[in-house]
Amino acid sequence: FQKKILAGKRVLITAGPTFEAIDPVRGITNRSSGKMGFAIARAAIEAGAQVHLIAGPCDLVTPLAATGNIIRTDVVSAKEMHAATLKEHDYDIFFAVAAVADWAITKPAKEKIKRQGNQAPALEFTANPDILLDVAKTVKTKAGKPYPYCVGFAAESTDLQAHAQEKRKRKGIPMIVGNIAPNTFDSDLNQLLVIDENGNKKMPQAEKLQLARQLIQLVAKKI
Ligand code: C5P
Repeated sequence: FQKKILAGKRVLITAGPTFEAIDPVRGITNRSSGKMGFAIARAAIEAGAQVHLIAGPCDLVTPLAATGNIIRTDVVSAKEMHAATLKEHDYDIFFAVAAVADWAITKPAKEKIKRQGNQAPALEFTANPDILLDVAKTVKTKAGKPYPYCVGFAAESTDLQAHAQEKRKRKGIPMIVGNIAPNTFDSDLNQLLVIDENGNKKMPQAEKLQLARQLIQLVAKKI
């Protein structure tokens, strides 16, 4: 009998996009199917963890729900995702996989904005809170290791390695995972570049679930 590598561990995951309302029928969002985050949730449960999955709007089925080892909270906006995430305490690993919209509409209209000829409305934006940055600020040390262990994600169109490394340092997190394939949206496949304090590791193209399992193996060794 082999003990599962995340037995007794608690894992918090944000996944999917967030949606910021302009009015009751319109809004802005970031592109994300949620598939990578949901794959990580599944892989973590397989490894024996208790998972809390905080999901933006996406129509994916909760993985391994029948095990009773996953709680799912559905949210819409970045503010809601931030509140749900920061409410959690005492977990071992945080995976920030969500593609969080960077800006919210400052004052969403209560009623549908009517079109006025060819004129477009001027929208005012407000920066959304950075969920990962705020979680990273709460990190403590437990038995000489960061707690929770924070893993960020980076989707970039150019210079993945430099941008991802910069993000890792700016957010003060030990690990960041870059999507090598620029268009992983909606795909079941991905290719990852994992950057931690020891350098870079490429994970060649594979199913997102396969990559998620490899990532869980890597992170389990860090905690
Ligand atoms: O800040 P940036 O979008 O460049 O970094 C991406 C990483 O930060 C991802 O892990 C994403 O989930 C997280 N993030 C967040 N809250 C935000 C923006 C990004 O948690 N408002």
